[in-house]
Amino acid sequence: MRRSEPRLQRKLLAWLLGPLAILLVLDTAAAYWNSLRFANLAYDRALHEIGREIALHVKLDGARPRLELSEAAANILFVDQEDQIFYRVVGEDGTDLGGDAQLPEARVGKAGKPNFYGDTVRGEQVRMMVAWMPVGPDAGPPLVRVQVAESLNKRERLAWEMVANVVLPQLLLIIMATAVVWFGVSRGLEPLQRLRRAVSDRSHLDLSPIDIHDVPGEVRPLVDEVNELMARLERTFDFQNRFVADAAHQLKTPVSGLKAQIELALRETDLHRVRHSLAQLYISADRLSRLVRQLLSLARNEPGALDSMQLQPLDLNAHALEVSMEWVPQAIKRNIDLGFEGVDHPLMIDADQDRLRELVNNLIDNAIRYSQPGGRVTVQASRIDDAQCRLAISDDGLRIPVEERARIFERFHRLLGTQEDGSGLGLAIVSEIATLHGARITLEEDIDGVGNTFSVFFPLRAA
Ligand SMILES: Nc1ncnc2c1ncn2[C@@H]1O[C@H](COP(=O)(O)OP(=O)(O)OP(=O)(O)O)[C@@H](O)[C@H]1O
Ligand SMILES: [Mg+2]
Repeated sequence: MRRSEPRLQRKLLAWLLGPLAILLVLDTAAAYWNSLRFANLAYDRALHEIGREIALHVKLDGARPRLELSEAAANILFVDQEDQIFYRVVGEDGTDLGGDAQLPEARVGKAGKPNFYGDTVRGEQVRMMVAWMPVGPDAGPPLVRVQVAESLNKRERLAWEMVANVVLPQLLLIIMATAVVWFGVSRGLEPLQRLRRAVSDRSHLDLSPIDIHDVPGEVRPLVDEVNELMARLERTFDFQNRFVADAAHQLKTPVSGLKAQIELALRETDLHRVRHSLAQLYISADRLSRLVRQLLSLARNEPGALDSMQLQPLDLNAHALEVSMEWVPQAIKRNIDLGFEGVDHPLMIDADQDRLRELVNNLIDNAIRYSQPGGRVTVQASRIDDAQCRLAISDDGLRIPVEERARIFERFHRLLGTQEDGSGLGLAIVSEIATLHGARITLEEDIDGVGNTFSVFFPLRAA
């Protein structure tokens, strides 16, 4: 994280400078080639002049041409601080009239313009001029072939000077652009740096949203997402904290009760009474174990549990019937008439089978436990419309007062005066599982105004 910001800056610069550098190299090459062409154009003319000057020193000895070039004249002609000059004069019959016989032979048409080209003389690169030139006062024959070669120093120097004139300002421009971009990008990334500092300086317990006031528009969605995540985390932490506090509180009483009972039993000497204490202990331990089971179930179905859901297509009608059947022995034991009213076609919903079973179990358990012996409990599965179906568990026991209807879904909330054991978690679990399934839960009295009907409305699976 710490290095990512300069990396971005470097990347931007690389994208800018890479192409510019390539352009600069290409531009330099083109400029050099062009400049050299101009330098040649200028100096070739001088070379031709020298050739003509040499031709003026060729005299006619009868019909035979002869070169008369004194040392003083040659010195004047060939003086040059930078370059070496070679020459050669050849007659029409191919005899050397003077100059450097080692100069490479050149072929050129007798009429027409002088020829210029690159060549090497004694290992040195030269520019060569070759031309046939007249000897006598009139332009006619005899002609002599004059070759003048010159090393390339001043041509190259001139070319490079011209290149520098073109390229240096460009280089300067690139350096300035780099500085401006570097500065601009640093300034542009400053809000990101501040954002990073704000996050890294934060306490791990601080889940309040990051201030988006100063955040650039491009990263705003990211920060919004992070804030949304923090809010979810905060809700989860909240839930966990409350859960741990509640669980500890709820476990404390039964565990101290157990301890007291055990102490009492240990002091007992009469075997009969020890057995009685053990039986009591068993009941307490059973209650405690149910509490722990319900606590675990509550934790498992907390609002963030959506990821662990294993949704699959499930027939609510068949499932409700199956779970109801499992409760028949319990109902008989309490002399309750447990009935099932279903439909003759499947009611397909998307559900997590284990969780759905837990939901139905808790509702039937309540209905059986809180009804009077001889009462009637009915499990119903029905279709409401194309979009939803209903699972209802009704009993004809004591009506839950209207003002309590919302509260009994809260954790650990139990009605006063209930004789039955319970941890007060069953309906909280039911409500969590319903939410996880996108279902809605209602509590109403039975049609005839007695008892209670818990209804859960599930969205039907799209065909
Ligand atoms: N069908 C019912 N008839 C009458 N009262 C009910 C019924 N269902 C729930 N209640 C009341 O609502 C309270 C909360 O029920 P809930 O299932 O949440 O907890 P519980 O049954 O006490 O404990 P457990 O976690 O063991 O289920 C119960 O204590 C009971 O007073
Ligand atoms: Mg219950």
